[in-house]
Amino acid sequence: MHIHKYEKIWLGFGIFSLVLFLSIIGVTAFAFNHHPAGGMETIDPEKLEQTAPFDHPGVHQIDQDTYEVVIVAKTFGYDPPEIKVPTGKKIIFKVASADVSHSFSIVNTNVNMMVIPGQINTKEYTFDKPGQYLVICNEYCGTGHHFMKTSIEVIE
Ligand code: CUA
Repeated sequence: MHIHKYEKIWLGFGIFSLVLFLSIIGVTAFAFNHHPAGGMETIDPEKLEQTAPFDHPGVHQIDQDTYEVVIVAKTFGYDPPEIKVPTGKKIIFKVASADVSHSFSIVNTNVNMMVIPGQINTKEYTFDKPGQYLVICNEYCGTGHHFMKTSIEVIE
């Protein structure tokens, strides 16, 4: 009688352990699937133009001191073609690629982002001085790579 009871307990414990184990595996796989490289967000490059915020590339004011700049990088340029942001505000650049790997590198700043297809690449920056800032692609992306550039106009 006693043995039977213990068997039941052990069986229950075994099933419980198995479910727990599978849950951990599942949760881990899910987490990694959504954050492949240290907390980066992913996006389907095929559906980039239908997926917010990349369905509306451009400069969006978030609040008094914060702007979000949504950029689509594609062979061989950046969308939107014109970027205008103010001095002294927090600018959050969100860049995604519609095709191959590019970069979004603002010359003379520490903004030098790899733009990997399938990822939302984010970097914050505050411009101290107004002026025209050159943006180039540092990642070889094909025949037009050397022509892949844009500029950011930083206003007072
Ligand atoms: Cu895009 Cu090089």
